[in-house]
Amino acid sequence: SDSAGDTKVGFFAKYPTLVTGFFFFMWYFLNVIFNILNKKIYNYFPYPYFVSVIHLFVGVVYCLVSWGVGLPKRAPIDSNLLKLLIPVAVCHALGHVTSNVSFAAVAVSFTHTIKALEPFFNAAASQFILGQSIPLTLWLSLAPVVLGVSMASLTELSFNWTGFISAMISNISFTYRSIYSKKAMTDMDSTNIYAYISIIALIVCIPPALIVEGPQLMKHGFNDAIAKVGLTKFLSDLFWVGMFYHLYNQLATNTLERVAPLTHAVGNVLKRVFVIGFSILVFGKCSSFFCLICLLLPSP
Ligand code: 3PG
Repeated sequence: SDSAGDTKVGFFAKYPTLVTGFFFFMWYFLNVIFNILNKKIYNYFPYPYFVSVIHLFVGVVYCLVSWGVGLPKRAPIDSNLLKLLIPVAVCHALGHVTSNVSFAAVAVSFTHTIKALEPFFNAAASQFILGQSIPLTLWLSLAPVVLGVSMASLTELSFNWTGFISAMISNISFTYRSIYSKKAMTDMDSTNIYAYISIIALIVCIPPALIVEGPQLMKHGFNDAIAKVGLTKFLSDLFWVGMFYHLYNQLATNTLERVAPLTHAVGNVLKRVFVIGFSILVFGKCSSFFCLICLLLPSP
Protein backbone atom coordinates (compact mmCIF):
# COMPACT_ATOMS: atom_id res chain seq x y z
CA SER A 1 0.00 0.00 0.00
CA ASP A 2 1.03 3.65 -0.30
CA SER A 3 1.52 4.08 3.40
CA ALA A 4 3.74 0.98 3.56
CA GLY A 5 5.69 2.43 0.61
CA ASP A 6 6.00 5.78 2.40
CA THR A 7 7.26 4.06 5.54
CA LYS A 8 9.89 2.23 3.47
CA VAL A 9 11.02 5.41 1.68
CA GLY A 10 11.05 7.23 5.03
CA PHE A 11 13.24 4.61 6.68
CA PHE A 12 15.65 4.45 3.71
CA ALA A 13 15.96 8.25 3.67
CA LYS A 14 16.22 8.62 7.44
CA TYR A 15 18.94 6.02 8.06
CA PRO A 16 20.98 5.87 4.83
CA THR A 17 24.19 4.69 6.52
CA LEU A 18 22.40 1.97 8.42
CA VAL A 19 20.71 0.78 5.25
CA THR A 20 24.00 0.81 3.30
CA GLY A 21 25.66 -1.13 6.14
CA PHE A 22 22.88 -3.70 5.96
CA PHE A 23 23.39 -4.03 2.19
CA PHE A 24 27.11 -4.69 2.73
CA PHE A 25 26.37 -7.22 5.46
CA MET A 26 23.88 -9.14 3.30
CA TRP A 27 26.22 -9.04 0.29
CA TYR A 28 29.06 -10.58 2.34
CA PHE A 29 26.82 -13.08 4.11
CA LEU A 30 25.26 -14.40 0.88
CA ASN A 31 28.68 -14.50 -0.77
CA VAL A 32 30.26 -16.58 2.00
CA ILE A 33 27.42 -19.12 1.83
CA PHE A 34 27.59 -19.17 -1.97
CA ASN A 35 31.34 -19.86 -1.96
CA ILE A 36 31.12 -22.70 0.55
CA LEU A 37 28.19 -24.43 -1.12
CA ASN A 38 29.72 -23.93 -4.57
CA LYS A 39 33.01 -25.58 -3.58
CA LYS A 40 31.15 -28.45 -1.91
CA ILE A 41 29.43 -29.08 -5.24
CA TYR A 42 32.75 -29.03 -7.15
CA ASN A 43 34.13 -31.59 -4.72
CA TYR A 44 31.65 -34.17 -6.04
CA PHE A 45 30.67 -32.65 -9.41
CA PRO A 46 33.69 -30.95 -11.07
CA TYR A 47 31.90 -29.28 -14.00
CA PRO A 48 32.33 -25.50 -13.63
CA TYR A 49 30.95 -24.53 -17.07
CA PHE A 50 27.71 -26.37 -16.38
CA VAL A 51 27.43 -25.12 -12.79
CA SER A 52 27.99 -21.54 -14.04
CA VAL A 53 25.02 -21.99 -16.39
CA ILE A 54 22.92 -23.27 -13.48
CA HIS A 55 23.86 -20.23 -11.34
CA LEU A 56 22.60 -17.90 -14.06
CA PHE A 57 19.62 -20.07 -14.98
CA VAL A 58 18.24 -20.10 -11.42
CA GLY A 59 18.77 -16.32 -11.27
CA VAL A 60 16.95 -15.77 -14.55
CA VAL A 61 13.98 -17.89 -13.45
CA TYR A 62 13.92 -15.89 -10.20
CA CYS A 63 13.89 -12.62 -12.19
CA LEU A 64 11.13 -13.82 -14.51
CA VAL A 65 8.98 -14.85 -11.54
CA SER A 66 9.70 -11.51 -9.80
CA TRP A 67 8.71 -9.60 -12.93
CA GLY A 68 5.64 -11.83 -13.27
CA VAL A 69 4.35 -10.75 -9.86
CA GLY A 70 5.48 -7.16 -10.40
CA LEU A 71 8.24 -7.06 -7.75
CA PRO A 72 9.96 -5.18 -9.24
CA LYS A 73 7.97 -4.01 -12.20
CA ARG A 74 9.87 -4.90 -15.39
CA ALA A 75 11.48 -1.81 -16.94
CA PRO A 76 11.12 -1.84 -20.74
CA ILE A 77 14.33 -2.27 -22.73
CA ASP A 78 15.07 -0.82 -26.17
CA SER A 79 17.72 -1.68 -28.76
CA ASN A 80 20.00 1.19 -27.65
CA LEU A 81 20.12 0.00 -24.07
CA LEU A 82 20.50 -3.59 -25.24
CA LYS A 83 23.56 -2.58 -27.27
CA LEU A 84 25.07 -1.00 -24.16
CA LEU A 85 24.31 -3.98 -21.94
CA ILE A 86 25.61 -6.72 -24.25
CA PRO A 87 29.35 -5.98 -23.66
CA VAL A 88 28.72 -5.76 -19.88
CA ALA A 89 26.91 -9.10 -19.92
CA VAL A 90 29.55 -10.82 -22.09
CA CYS A 91 32.28 -9.71 -19.64
CA HIS A 92 30.07 -10.80 -16.74
CA ALA A 93 29.66 -14.25 -18.34
CA LEU A 94 33.36 -14.64 -19.11
CA GLY A 95 34.44 -13.51 -15.64
CA HIS A 96 31.85 -15.77 -14.08
CA VAL A 97 32.86 -18.92 -15.94
CA THR A 98 36.59 -18.33 -15.46
CA SER A 99 36.10 -17.65 -11.72
CA ASN A 100 34.29 -20.96 -11.48
CA VAL A 101 36.91 -22.87 -13.46
CA SER A 102 39.36 -21.56 -10.87
CA PHE A 103 37.10 -22.42 -7.89
CA ALA A 104 36.87 -25.99 -9.19
CA ALA A 105 40.62 -26.25 -9.80
CA VAL A 106 42.18 -24.82 -6.62
CA ALA A 107 41.26 -23.90 -3.02
CA VAL A 108 38.52 -21.23 -2.79
CA SER A 109 40.85 -19.18 -0.63
CA PHE A 110 43.47 -19.15 -3.38
CA THR A 111 41.04 -18.04 -6.12
CA HIS A 112 39.89 -15.17 -3.90
CA THR A 113 43.48 -14.26 -3.10
CA ILE A 114 44.14 -13.82 -6.85
CA LYS A 115 40.82 -12.04 -7.28
CA ALA A 116 41.99 -9.50 -4.68
CA LEU A 117 44.10 -8.13 -7.57
CA GLU A 118 40.96 -6.82 -9.32
CA PRO A 119 41.46 -3.21 -8.09
CA PHE A 120 45.03 -3.36 -9.42
CA PHE A 121 43.72 -4.40 -12.84
CA ASN A 122 41.12 -1.62 -12.60
CA ALA A 123 43.81 0.96 -11.87
CA ALA A 124 45.95 -0.35 -14.75
CA ALA A 125 42.99 -0.17 -17.14
CA SER A 126 42.14 3.38 -16.02
CA GLN A 127 45.71 4.50 -16.62
CA PHE A 128 46.67 2.58 -19.76
CA ILE A 129 43.35 2.03 -21.54
CA LEU A 130 41.24 5.01 -20.50
CA GLY A 131 44.26 7.34 -20.24
CA GLN A 132 43.30 8.69 -16.80
CA SER A 133 46.19 9.47 -14.54
CA ILE A 134 46.28 7.36 -11.39
CA PRO A 135 48.07 9.04 -8.47
CA LEU A 136 51.29 7.42 -7.28
CA THR A 137 49.79 7.01 -3.79
CA LEU A 138 47.09 4.75 -5.20
CA TRP A 139 49.68 2.58 -6.96
CA LEU A 140 51.68 2.41 -3.72
CA SER A 141 48.58 1.38 -1.76
CA LEU A 142 48.08 -1.50 -4.20
CA ALA A 143 51.70 -2.68 -3.98
CA PRO A 144 51.26 -4.76 -0.77
CA VAL A 145 48.32 -6.59 -2.37
CA VAL A 146 50.37 -7.45 -5.46
CA LEU A 147 53.28 -8.59 -3.29
CA GLY A 148 50.98 -10.62 -1.03
CA VAL A 149 49.32 -12.36 -3.98
CA SER A 150 52.72 -13.20 -5.52
CA MET A 151 53.92 -14.73 -2.26
CA ALA A 152 50.65 -16.61 -1.78
CA SER A 153 50.93 -18.02 -5.33
CA LEU A 154 54.49 -19.20 -4.76
CA THR A 155 53.57 -21.06 -1.58
CA GLU A 156 50.00 -22.18 -2.36
CA LEU A 157 49.51 -25.88 -1.67
CA SER A 158 46.67 -26.32 -4.16
CA PHE A 159 48.40 -24.25 -6.89
CA ASN A 160 47.89 -25.23 -10.52
CA TRP A 161 48.04 -23.12 -13.67
CA THR A 162 44.38 -23.66 -14.64
CA GLY A 163 43.28 -22.18 -11.32
CA PHE A 164 45.75 -19.31 -11.51
CA ILE A 165 45.28 -18.30 -15.15
CA SER A 166 41.48 -18.55 -15.11
CA ALA A 167 41.28 -16.36 -11.99
CA MET A 168 43.54 -13.83 -13.76
CA ILE A 169 41.27 -13.90 -16.84
CA SER A 170 38.31 -13.27 -14.53
CA ASN A 171 40.14 -10.19 -13.18
CA ILE A 172 40.56 -8.86 -16.72
CA SER A 173 36.93 -9.67 -17.63
CA PHE A 174 35.52 -7.97 -14.54
CA THR A 175 37.72 -4.93 -15.17
CA TYR A 176 36.24 -4.62 -18.67
CA ARG A 177 32.81 -5.19 -17.16
CA SER A 178 33.25 -2.13 -14.96
CA ILE A 179 34.52 -0.05 -17.91
CA TYR A 180 31.48 -1.00 -20.01
CA SER A 181 29.14 -0.58 -17.01
CA LYS A 182 30.12 3.08 -16.78
CA LYS A 183 29.12 3.56 -20.42
CA ALA A 184 25.85 1.73 -19.77
CA MET A 185 24.78 3.96 -16.85
CA THR A 186 21.13 4.75 -17.42
CA ASP A 187 18.05 5.75 -15.50
CA MET A 188 17.05 2.11 -15.13
CA ASP A 189 17.25 0.78 -11.56
CA SER A 190 20.00 -1.68 -10.65
CA THR A 191 17.65 -4.63 -10.03
CA ASN A 192 16.22 -4.43 -13.55
CA ILE A 193 19.67 -3.87 -15.09
CA TYR A 194 21.05 -6.93 -13.31
CA ALA A 195 18.09 -9.02 -14.48
CA TYR A 196 18.77 -8.14 -18.13
CA ILE A 197 22.52 -8.77 -17.67
CA SER A 198 21.76 -12.22 -16.21
CA ILE A 199 19.55 -13.15 -19.17
CA ILE A 200 22.19 -12.15 -21.75
CA ALA A 201 25.01 -13.79 -19.74
CA LEU A 202 23.02 -17.03 -19.55
CA ILE A 203 22.64 -17.11 -23.34
CA VAL A 204 26.41 -16.51 -23.68
CA CYS A 205 27.34 -19.30 -21.23
CA ILE A 206 25.24 -22.14 -22.67
CA PRO A 207 27.18 -22.94 -25.90
CA PRO A 208 30.66 -23.26 -24.26
CA ALA A 209 29.17 -25.46 -21.50
CA LEU A 210 27.62 -27.77 -24.11
CA ILE A 211 30.83 -27.94 -26.12
CA VAL A 212 33.33 -28.27 -23.26
CA GLU A 213 31.42 -30.45 -20.80
CA GLY A 214 28.33 -31.76 -22.63
CA PRO A 215 29.77 -35.12 -23.75
CA GLN A 216 31.34 -35.98 -20.35
CA LEU A 217 28.21 -34.91 -18.49
CA MET A 218 26.03 -37.21 -20.57
CA LYS A 219 28.51 -40.08 -20.38
CA HIS A 220 29.05 -40.16 -16.63
CA GLY A 221 29.02 -36.65 -15.01
CA PHE A 222 25.39 -36.62 -13.90
CA ASN A 223 25.35 -40.31 -12.99
CA ASP A 224 28.49 -40.00 -10.86
CA ALA A 225 27.09 -37.04 -8.94
CA ILE A 226 23.76 -38.76 -8.32
CA ALA A 227 25.54 -41.96 -7.23
CA LYS A 228 27.61 -39.95 -4.75
CA VAL A 229 24.99 -37.72 -3.11
CA GLY A 230 21.59 -38.81 -4.43
CA LEU A 231 19.30 -36.99 -6.87
CA THR A 232 17.48 -34.89 -4.26
CA LYS A 233 20.62 -33.44 -2.71
CA PHE A 234 22.19 -32.87 -6.13
CA LEU A 235 19.17 -30.90 -7.35
CA SER A 236 18.70 -28.96 -4.13
CA ASP A 237 22.42 -28.03 -4.04
CA LEU A 238 22.19 -26.71 -7.59
CA PHE A 239 19.03 -24.77 -6.80
CA TRP A 240 20.41 -23.15 -3.64
CA VAL A 241 23.81 -22.31 -5.09
CA GLY A 242 21.99 -20.55 -7.95
CA MET A 243 19.79 -18.61 -5.53
CA PHE A 244 22.73 -17.49 -3.41
CA TYR A 245 24.70 -16.56 -6.52
CA HIS A 246 21.86 -14.43 -7.85
CA LEU A 247 21.03 -12.78 -4.54
CA TYR A 248 24.60 -11.85 -3.63
CA ASN A 249 25.15 -10.31 -7.07
CA GLN A 250 21.82 -8.53 -6.79
CA LEU A 251 22.87 -7.11 -3.42
CA ALA A 252 26.31 -6.17 -4.80
CA THR A 253 24.64 -4.27 -7.65
CA ASN A 254 22.21 -2.55 -5.27
CA THR A 255 25.12 -1.59 -3.01
CA LEU A 256 26.97 -0.04 -5.96
CA GLU A 257 23.93 2.15 -6.52
CA ARG A 258 24.34 3.52 -2.96
CA VAL A 259 28.12 4.07 -2.68
CA ALA A 260 31.02 5.42 -4.77
CA PRO A 261 32.73 2.89 -7.09
CA LEU A 262 35.96 3.07 -5.08
CA THR A 263 34.12 2.29 -1.82
CA HIS A 264 32.47 -0.62 -3.59
CA ALA A 265 35.83 -1.91 -4.87
CA VAL A 266 37.39 -1.69 -1.40
CA GLY A 267 34.29 -3.40 0.02
CA ASN A 268 34.72 -6.18 -2.52
CA VAL A 269 38.31 -6.82 -1.39
CA LEU A 270 37.17 -6.88 2.23
CA LYS A 271 34.49 -9.40 1.22
CA ARG A 272 37.26 -11.70 -0.03
CA VAL A 273 38.99 -11.53 3.36
CA PHE A 274 35.78 -12.89 4.94
CA VAL A 275 35.40 -15.57 2.27
CA ILE A 276 39.04 -16.65 2.64
CA GLY A 277 38.66 -16.87 6.43
CA PHE A 278 35.42 -18.86 6.33
CA SER A 279 36.58 -21.18 3.54
CA ILE A 280 39.71 -22.05 5.53
CA LEU A 281 37.53 -22.77 8.56
CA VAL A 282 35.21 -25.01 6.54
CA PHE A 283 37.61 -26.73 4.15
CA GLY A 284 40.64 -26.66 6.41
CA LYS A 285 43.00 -25.81 3.58
CA CYS A 286 45.53 -23.11 4.19
CA SER A 287 45.99 -20.93 1.16
CA SER A 288 49.47 -19.82 1.91
CA PHE A 289 52.37 -19.93 4.25
CA PHE A 290 52.17 -16.13 4.36
CA CYS A 291 48.43 -15.99 4.94
CA LEU A 292 47.72 -13.80 7.95
CA ILE A 293 44.38 -15.43 8.60
CA CYS A 294 46.04 -18.85 8.83
CA LEU A 295 48.46 -17.50 11.36
CA LEU A 296 45.62 -16.13 13.48
CA LEU A 297 43.28 -19.13 13.27
CA PRO A 298 44.00 -22.37 15.11
CA SER A 299 45.10 -25.04 12.63
CA PRO A 300 42.18 -27.14 11.45
C1 3PG B 1 31.31 -15.86 -9.85
O1 3PG B 1 30.83 -16.96 -9.70
O2 3PG B 1 31.05 -15.12 -10.80
C2 3PG B 1 32.28 -15.45 -8.85
O3 3PG B 1 31.81 -15.79 -7.59
C3 3PG B 1 32.56 -14.02 -8.97
O4 3PG B 1 33.23 -13.66 -7.90
P1 3PG B 1 33.08 -12.22 -7.27
O5 3PG B 1 31.65 -11.81 -7.40
O6 3PG B 1 33.49 -12.47 -5.87
O7 3PG B 1 34.04 -11.37 -8.05
